[in-house]
Amino acid sequence: MSENETLISAAKQARENAHAPYSNFRVGAALRATSGRIFAGCNVENATYGLTVCAERVAIFKAISEGERGFNAISVVTDTDTLTPPCGACRQLIWEFCGDVPVILANLKGKTEIIQMKDLFPKPFDSSNL
Ligand code: THU
Repeated sequence: MSENETLISAAKQARENAHAPYSNFRVGAALRATSGRIFAGCNVENATYGLTVCAERVAIFKAISEGERGFNAISVVTDTDTLTPPCGACRQLIWEFCGDVPVILANLKGKTEIIQMKDLFPKPFDSSNL
């Protein structure tokens, strides 16, 4: 299995744990740290809706809270024909912690697409603006 396939597979597995009873839109994400460790997450919804956390942010917060710094790819998996890119809030967080990494989108049918963060998030606000 290639590195990207391993990452997609971790995101797919995390998606199985999605808590999405309100939207029924299940998302899995996985992040590869430069250490080689993979951190995966799923979306976690809440009855108040607004407290929902996306799969990407769950994966990032898991990695950061385990002391990881430095990442080289992130994968997002959904069961949709049109692949799912990270939402705006997640793009900000991915940029903060991962920078210009490849974002590997995939669905359950094996469709994949790789987009660089600089193309998904072309004019970021970040520490260079402070
Ligand atoms: N969601 C994610 O987890 N990641 C994305 O990239 C897009 C949206 C979740 C949030 C919510 O639980 C559901 O998908 C519908 O928006």
